[in-house]
Order: sequence, then C-alpha cells, then structure tokens
Amino acid sequence: SGPATVSPTGSPTGADQARMAQSGSHLTNAQGTRLYDTDHSLKAGPRGPVLLQDHHLREKIMHFDHERIPERVVHARGAGAHGVFQSYGTAASVTKAGFLAPDVETPVFVRFSTVVGSRGSADTVRDTRGFATKFYTSEGVFDLVGNNIPVFFIQDAIKFPDVVHAAKPHPDREIPQAQSAHDTFWDFVSLHTEATHHTIFFMGDRGIPRSYRMMEGFGVHTFRLVNAEGRTTLVKFHWKPKLGVHSLLWDEAQLINGNDPDFHRRDLADAIEAGAYPQWELGIQTFPDTPDQTFEGIDLLDPTNIVPEELAPVQPVGLMTLNRNPSNFFAETEQVAFHVGHLVPGIDVTDDPLLAGRLFSYLDTQITRLGGPNFPQLPINRPHAPVNDMLRDGMHQTAVHRGVAPYQPNSLDGGCPFTAGADMGAYIETPVTVPEGRKVREAPESFSDHFSQPRRFWLSMSPVEREHIIGAYIFELGKCYEEAIRVRTLQVLANIDPELCSRVADGLGLPAPEPTVPLADVEPSPALSQIGGTWPVD
Ligand code: HEM
Repeated sequence: SGPATVSPTGSPTGADQARMAQSGSHLTNAQGTRLYDTDHSLKAGPRGPVLLQDHHLREKIMHFDHERIPERVVHARGAGAHGVFQSYGTAASVTKAGFLAPDVETPVFVRFSTVVGSRGSADTVRDTRGFATKFYTSEGVFDLVGNNIPVFFIQDAIKFPDVVHAAKPHPDREIPQAQSAHDTFWDFVSLHTEATHHTIFFMGDRGIPRSYRMMEGFGVHTFRLVNAEGRTTLVKFHWKPKLGVHSLLWDEAQLINGNDPDFHRRDLADAIEAGAYPQWELGIQTFPDTPDQTFEGIDLLDPTNIVPEELAPVQPVGLMTLNRNPSNFFAETEQVAFHVGHLVPGIDVTDDPLLAGRLFSYLDTQITRLGGPNFPQLPINRPHAPVNDMLRDGMHQTAVHRGVAPYQPNSLDGGCPFTAGADMGAYIETPVTVPEGRKVREAPESFSDHFSQPRRFWLSMSPVEREHIIGAYIFELGKCYEEAIRVRTLQVLANIDPELCSRVADGLGLPAPEPTVPLADVEPSPALSQIGGTWPVD
C-alpha cells in the first residue's frame, strides 16, 4: 500500500489520515491546532513590522526551510514505480529463497535512475542507468541494486570515490552534468583501463535508452544461491524487458533533452497510467560454485567481465510487472533506500571486491541522506515481514518500543532464544572456505586483462551499432580540451580494435596508434547486440 501516517501506537489516526490526503474541514498547524489565516504574518498594524511572536509564521517557514534532503551522491535523478513479481518456480532447485518458489507473488518497488546528473538534470543524457528493485518478500526485504550495463568501471570499491569524482562535473566550473564530454572522465578511463569495457558499453546504444521500459537490467556481480539442501550455485541476475531493448539516436537524445528533460520519467508514468504496464523477466545465468570461481576461464569475481549468454544461457525465473505509479514522489521515489546487503535466505554474496565496498557504502550514505539510522521505518522501506529487532532510539525514531530488555537472551521480556544449528528459516551465511594468504593491497593476476572483453563487445555489434559507437567516441573526445587525453584514449581503442581506433582517429584528425597488446582471439556474443539479441520477446 502507499504511504500511511501511523501513530506511535501503530494505527493511523483521524488527524494523520486528513494530513495524508490534504483534506479536512479546516486547516491546522503541525500540532493540530485550528488556524484562521495562513496568508498573513502577524503584524503591528496592517503596514507595521512583523512580530517575532508569530509562532505560526515561524513553524511554517521553519518546515519549508528544511523540505529538501541531500540528493543521492550518485544516481540522484530517478523515477520509481510499484509492481508485482510473479515467480515461475524455476529457480527453486538452486535457491531456497521463498519469493522464487513456484507461484509466489511478491510486491516490488523499482527505481530507475541516471548516475551522474543531479536531481534536476535531464533524462536522455549518455550515461549508465540504475535499475534497483526492492522485493518485499515474506522473509524480509531483498534488494537487487543493478544497472542497465552488465559490467562496471572499476574492480575494487576503493576506487569508487575516484571514478565518481572524475565523472561528476568539473570542480571549477561545475559542467557538464553527464558523463560525456569532459576531461576528467576521459582522463580517468584512459588511465584506468579496467574501465574500458563499461566505457565502450555506454558509448554504444545502451548509453541512451529509448525508455526505462526498454532497458535490460543486470545485477553485475556474481551472487551465490543456496538451495534447501545447502548446495550452492554462482549466478548473475538479468532483467529482460518484454518490449525488447531499444535506444535513441544521439540526435534524438539531444533534441529530447532540450524539449522534454523529463522524457523517461514521463514515459514511465504515462505508460503505467494508461495501463500499458511494463514487464521484465528475471533470469539467471548459473555457474558451478568451484573453488576458483571462474567459468570458461572468466573470473566471476571481476565485475568488469560478462559471461556470454551463448556460454551460459539466461534462464527465466519470474516476471515483474510495474502497475502503479507512486502517489508521492518524495515519500516513495526519493526516500526509498536500496542496499546490496538486503538479502534473504537463499541469496548470498561472493568475494567480488566491488561488492564488498558496496555492502558498506549504501547504509552509510543513507544515514546522511535520510537523517539518521531509522530510515527502514519510512513507509516505502518497511519490510512486509514482521520486524523484531533490538535496534532502539536514534534520530527520527517513530516506533514506541515496549519491554525493558532489548537484548538476547533475557529473562525479563521473554525472548526468542537462538537454537544453535537449527535453520529456523534464518539468514545463514554460506560457510565457504576463505582462501588463505598474506594481507595485501593487490588485485589478482586474473583481473589484469582489460581488453579481451571490450573486443568481444565490439566484434558483437551490428554495423549500425558500430557506427554509433564510432560517432559517440568522436563526439565525446572532440569535446576534451586536452589533446593528451584524446591520444591516450586512442591507444585504448587500438588495443580493442584497429578499425575502431582508426575511424575515431580520423574523426579527431589524429594519427591512429598501433596496439600495445596482442589483439584477443575472442568469439562475438550476438546477445550483446540490441539488434541480434537472443531473448525470446513475445
Ligand atoms: C546508488 C548501482 C557500485 C555507492 C546506486 C543506485 C544504483 C546503484 C542502481 C541507485 C539506487 C536508487 O535508485 O536509490 C550500482 C551498481 C554498481 C554500483 C550496479 C556496481 C556494480 C557502487 C559502489 C559504491 C556505490 C562500488 C561505493 C563503494 C552508491 C551510493 C549510492 C548508490 C553511495 C547512493 C545510495 C543512496 O543515496 O541511497 N548504485 N552501484 N555504488 N551507489 Fe551504487
């Protein structure tokens, strides 16, 4: 259900309901006292000075002064929708997660976003898109916090502040708002070549989606599923839109940005209002949980890698339908708090070092953004499962906890004794063996190939998609002030493909360098192409 104002005793009061609906026979102040005028300050005579004793003026202005909360440090601009996830039950053999059992229906809230722009920025910029889904399962909240691009810029979360500093507007002039066309971004991705795969993805058509309804979504990291017998399987999550994957042309995106900066937001809300509910199938690629956590030579812990769908087909496990618009943008889309650590029994994390940093980051940032540690109590974040935690007090606490013994075990309030060894439907971390080793700040050798997968991406593109990519690199690099950055990026392109490099070099009026690494001998993956995609769309 939508947002509700709940009294400390847990039930909506008459006054709360009136406030929620902005209705009632008379206006009150925040304390419920009836007002007779809210348009004039209290003055010493109609033309006299305003009096400091005007407590209504003070309350009204005070509240207004604090209406804005900090925007998200990334993914600030977004649009949300409610819906339902219907499980096919096909994942039941690999996970005990209740919401993936046969015929289970779970309410969801999804927030789509751009990454770099501020809250008021335009929708159709070239950028990665966020695709975050909150499943309100009967076993607790599960968040799948993904993007519309299956790989990420960096392999280790410790570099996240750096990549975001490089991608955000220049500190001196605060331009531009998108990832495109500025020196710091291209400086970073040409110096940190692990970013090459993500960069070529969003220089392609996926960087300018036609609609949120026509985007794929990816969990990016490899996750670990656990079934009822305790057997584990490594997986990657995919969302496949029923409408297919479609993009804008660059010139269209530019025109739309000028004419209707809310294009994607409007498209999503209008479609839902018209009853044209967007749908995505959730699918998983599964891999044996071997000690080395690789598949066909691909390191599954490296988030700059995909596993081609031709090698590990995406198996559908359920269908999501978005069927209700938020009734209050602030209370739902703005206050929703996703976190990769919101997991349910049957879904566990892996040792991907990017995921490890994310497990810290989300709750941490939300303390600032949502004003203290009690944001799980906000209506949009409340689990649809009973909560019996021992978290107490803190800023913006709205629950009135009962009892005197918020600790376990206790002999005063009764309690919920833990039974060692019993499953009890609890979340239990998989007892995987932790590799032994020296404490180091190093990446494994298997994280060092930064060009084979971007080359596979390039070779998988149809001719028209290749033209778009070439045009995008020429446009974006053409806007860099520093020639050294253009030259360094051409070197990166040479290591992907000589034709790509020479076409972009021609467009920039620069010589094309020779590759500095042997070109990888990789097979194309037709599923990467938006034109040659393999997912059955009915
Ligand atoms: C927000 C995805 C990596 C920190 C988001 C959102 C998405 C997302 C979809 C928006 C959530 C919403 O709509 O409210 C991803 C993906 C990543 C990634 C797919 C890589 C695979 C990281 C890393 C960090 C990070 C490495 C930090 C170490 C954040 C923060 C927010 C955010 C601080 C704002 C959250 C908030 O204010 O509620 N991310 N992200 N992300 N992400 Fe990530």
